Amino acid sequence: MLRTHTCGELRRTHVDQTATLCGWIDKYRDHHGIVFIDLRDRYGKTQVKFNLSDSSDVQESARALRYEDVIQVTGKIVSRPEDMFNPKLDTGEIELHAQDLVVLNKSKTPPFEPDGATIPNEELRLKYRFLDLRRPQLQQSLILRHQLSKSTRDYFDELKFLEIETPIMGRSTPEGARDYLVPSRVHEGCFYALPQSPQLYKQILMIGGFDRYFQIARCFRDEDLRADRQPEFTQIDVEMAFVTREDILQTIDGLLARMVRDLRGVELKLPIPRYSHADVMERYGSDKPDLRFGMELIDIGDIAAACDFSVFKSTIENGGRVRGIRVTGAAEKYSRKMIDELTEFVKGYGAKGLAFFRVKGNELDSPIAKFFSSEHQQGIINKLSAESGDLIFCVADTPKVTSAALAALRQRLGKELQLYDPLELSIAWVLDFPMYAWNEEEQRWEAEHHPFCQPVDEDIPLLETDPGKVRAQSYDLICNGYEAASGSVRIHDPVVQQRIFNFIGITPDEAEARFGFLLEALRYGAPPHAGVALGLDRWVMLFLGCDNIREVIAFPKTQKASDLLTGAPADVDAKQLRDLHIKIDAPK
Ligand code: AMO
Ligand code: AMP
Repeated sequence: MLRTHTCGELRRTHVDQTATLCGWIDKYRDHHGIVFIDLRDRYGKTQVKFNLSDSSDVQESARALRYEDVIQVTGKIVSRPEDMFNPKLDTGEIELHAQDLVVLNKSKTPPFEPDGATIPNEELRLKYRFLDLRRPQLQQSLILRHQLSKSTRDYFDELKFLEIETPIMGRSTPEGARDYLVPSRVHEGCFYALPQSPQLYKQILMIGGFDRYFQIARCFRDEDLRADRQPEFTQIDVEMAFVTREDILQTIDGLLARMVRDLRGVELKLPIPRYSHADVMERYGSDKPDLRFGMELIDIGDIAAACDFSVFKSTIENGGRVRGIRVTGAAEKYSRKMIDELTEFVKGYGAKGLAFFRVKGNELDSPIAKFFSSEHQQGIINKLSAESGDLIFCVADTPKVTSAALAALRQRLGKELQLYDPLELSIAWVLDFPMYAWNEEEQRWEAEHHPFCQPVDEDIPLLETDPGKVRAQSYDLICNGYEAASGSVRIHDPVVQQRIFNFIGITPDEAEARFGFLLEALRYGAPPHAGVALGLDRWVMLFLGCDNIREVIAFPKTQKASDLLTGAPADVDAKQLRDLHIKIDAPK
């Protein structure tokens, strides 16, 4: 070891001992011949003092130190005078008086200082990720990520699950995104697909007798990226045989409790609350509402139908809905200009406008209040349980648009008005998703989750006659407005599986070609099985209270799926392409 201690380790109990530390120069201050540096490593920072008046070589070379040089320094641990204690540092009560210094390597002038005090521009951070990774924030984030993985492995190991690796190069597994493809050199013109998830392999492991499987699995999806999505990300992937939905929910409840205990030192209240999909859609307009605050969507359809405001009235006549949310005490917080901006915001979700009412005593104050009798005004106040000083927003539109617009508005207001503690974890299960969603563009039904979910038994007769009503035995785990896990009971009967494929327009030939191996495996004694996958990256974000997935991945990609550090994706040699029989047909 080049060091005796780390930069986060020394305390007053070490005073008078000699220590050797290694690390990077975080801060450099020259006070009339006395140089103080903060030496940084991933464990913390320690103040080192060089007394230049001692005029040794050591003190002389200290003068030449610059930010991010990496050094080894040996010295005596000395208590700081009490008025110089730094309560912000764990090592803030001591300092090291340098006696020996080795400059292990000099640094070029860094494009930013990774001292944690400032957040540099993200493009620079990604390009110079090796510097960015030195920032305490990123180090905390990757440490927490490690701890979450470790809790997961310990938990499943204790429950006799086996961690089994599934192939990265395989057959396409549909999860709704485009595949990343890998060309085969040996099989001309053929491609492997990188897994969008280990879904099919894990089902086959069940058929193979491994009744408790988990894997911390890398998944690849070529889809539009957002703040909570990366083209390659990590799932905590789980599958169990001879179980019901209840067993999966309880197993994952236990996993979350273990994570919260290990990382936060507190007990999560179990069971994790459960809601039906229909219930959260009605109350929050979203299948992944942030439950850290209320502000539920309230239907005022009956008042809308009876009032004189033509927009509301005609919406109801045309089979639409009018719903509102109450923003407690916000009547004076939102100016007309701010409301205009919120109106533009909801238009982004398809709404045609945003009606608002300020509650004043028993009356509503609004440009459209004149269209509502005092009885109707009181009715709206009662329905929304509003009080004087509250602000009410309403949207009249199709059921889908009222949900989408008000859900987005609710989320935005919750954040803007800081209605929650960013570190709170508000976790819930959402059960009984619809089996199918109507694809307006392609005018056909498609699987809402994936085509391997088992329908709710009593809904099976409706498969072909009333598909919109069929519920799947599927479940999502939501937390703070994110979809943090998703899973289902699987179909283990090849006949039902074929029926589902048929219904979503996958012909028997096509099914045989794409999923023949699964259908065949189902014919050889497939046990009932069910599973789930948690988005590991998203859980790290949630535990950290951060909303950018790039903060929880060591080497993330940009919005355009580039890696700015290495320059991937990049051209390859003409010879590599020739070997793969690939010709590029893209504009230079
Ligand atoms: P699903 O596609 O819902 O289900 O994915 C499971 C969980 O993975 C996370 N996730 C992502 N995280 C970051 N970036 C992405 N691009 C991304 N896509 C998904 C989410 C999501 O809830 N095979 C099924 C699971 C099963 O049925 O067992 C599946 O992959 O947190
Ligand atoms: P207008 O009648 O277009 O002048 O709109 C009067 C008010 O009603 C404005 O505040 C609009 O934003 C609002 N508004 C218009 N259409 C809708 C709608 N579909 N839902 C809710 N509010 C609306």
